[in-house]
Amino acid sequence: MAQPTKKAKVAGNVFNHDEKTPAVKQAGNGLVEQDGLKYFTGFGNEFSSEAIEGALPIGQNTPQQCAYGLYAEQLSGTAFTRPRSHNQRSWLYRIRPAVVHDAFKKVDVNNINQKWGECEGDPNQMRWSPFPLPKDGERVNFVQGLATVAGAGDPCMRSGMAIHVYACNANMDNCCFYSSDGDMLIVPQLGTLHITTEFGEMNVCNNEICVIQVCVCVCVCVCVGYISEIFGSHFQLPDLGPIGANGLANPRDFLTPIAKYEDVDGDFTVYNKYQGQMFSAKQDHSPFDVVAWHGNYAPYKYDLAKFAVVNSVSFDHMDPSIFTVLTAPTPTPGLALIDFVIFPPRWSVHEHTFRPPYYHRNCMAEFMGLIRGHYEAKAEGFAPGGATLHSMMTPHGPDRQCFESASSAELKPEVIAKGTQAFMFETSLGLKTTPWAATCGARQEDYHAVWRGLDKHFKPPSK
Ligand SMILES: [Fe+2]
Repeated sequence: MAQPTKKAKVAGNVFNHDEKTPAVKQAGNGLVEQDGLKYFTGFGNEFSSEAIEGALPIGQNTPQQCAYGLYAEQLSGTAFTRPRSHNQRSWLYRIRPAVVHDAFKKVDVNNINQKWGECEGDPNQMRWSPFPLPKDGERVNFVQGLATVAGAGDPCMRSGMAIHVYACNANMDNCCFYSSDGDMLIVPQLGTLHITTEFGEMNVCNNEICVIQVCVCVCVCVCVGYISEIFGSHFQLPDLGPIGANGLANPRDFLTPIAKYEDVDGDFTVYNKYQGQMFSAKQDHSPFDVVAWHGNYAPYKYDLAKFAVVNSVSFDHMDPSIFTVLTAPTPTPGLALIDFVIFPPRWSVHEHTFRPPYYHRNCMAEFMGLIRGHYEAKAEGFAPGGATLHSMMTPHGPDRQCFESASSAELKPEVIAKGTQAFMFETSLGLKTTPWAATCGARQEDYHAVWRGLDKHFKPPSK
C-alpha cells in the first residue's frame, strides 16, 4: 500500500482547539486524558470509579462490610423520591465517613452576603471594571477570596441564586470548602483552577467551566473568576427542539474526574457555606479519602471551545438563548432559574440586518462577564475580569460607537468575537446587588453615559 509522503496539513480553526486548552486524548477503558489527569466523558451518566481494584461493591450499595474496611456513604443531590429521570445521587466508599469532624462554628472570613432584605434595589445599568485582586503581600485563598456581587432568593426555601466572584493567590492548604446551599458553576478568568474534589481531581483552565454540586468538598489553588450558585435546582443541558439531536454543548464533551484518594492524618479545616453564612469545622484527617464511588451526582467540567454554535444564516439577530450551554430550570416550562450563555467566536453572515445585539428590555436579569477578548456590543469599558448587570426591564443595547459603525458596515461574511469569550448568567429572578459590589472599587458609576449621544435620526416624510 502506498504511504503518504507528507503529513496532511490540518486547517486552522478559529472556533475550536484553542491552543491554550490542553488537548484531550483517548486513554482507553472509555476514559480520556488531559493535562495529566484522566476523566470520564458524558453528561449525567452513571459512572463507576475505584482507585483500588475491588473497592467498589458489586451488585449492592451497602455490604455488611465494605472492601478494605471502607465506609459506605450516600450523597443525595435530589430527594429520594424524585422521578428517576431527575434523580441524582452517588455512593462514596471512603476511609472515614464525612461526619467525623468537630462542631461547626461560624466564621467571618469573606464578603459572602445573601441578606437580600438588607440590600437596596437598583434599576440602573451597572458595569464593573475587573474586580479587585488580593493586595500586595496579602495571602488569600479561595474561601477568603469569595465575594458576592448579586443574587435573589433563599437557600432555606431552595429557591434562588447568587453570583459571586473569587480572587485568590494562595492554595487551600489543609482546608477545603463546600456549599450546603447550591450547585456552583465556576467560570475561571485568570489562572488554571486545580480542583481536588472528593470524586477526584480536575484542572479547569481559561475558557473551560466546571460545576461543583451541593456538598462536594473542593480544594482549589490560585485563580480569579466568576461563580453562579443556584438554590434548589441542578444544571442540565438545554433541549434542542428543531435543532435536532446534535449541536450546542454536546454531552460527550463533559468530563468528570475519576476516583483518587489520600490517606493523610493531620489538622484539616472544612469550610461550609450554609444558609448564606460561612462555618468551619476541624477534623484530624483529609476529607479527600474517597477510594471509590459510583453514581450520577458528580462534578464535571466543559471546554467552551467545543460549543457548536447555531445562528442565523439569512437575516436578523437571533435571541441569545441559541448560545445556552447549561440551564437550571424552574417549575415553569421554558423559564430558567438561570441560563448560562456564551458569545463565542463564530461566523456572522446575516444580511439586511443590524448585526450586533438589538436594543431591548428583558423580563430576565442579565449578568455578563468577559473571560477574554472584546465584547462586540461594547467598544470600551467592559474588560476581561469585569462585569455588567442589566436588571429586569432595564433598557440596554449597543453603545453609540457600536451602533454607528454597525449601521453602516458592509455586511460581508466575517468572523466575529475571535479570541473572545463573553458569557451571561441570565436569570428570571430580580437581582439585588450587595454593598460589596458598590464599594469594592470596581463599579463604574458613569456606565449609563455610554448611551448618551445616540442621536435622533428620525426623518418623517415631509407633508
Ligand atoms: Fe441583553
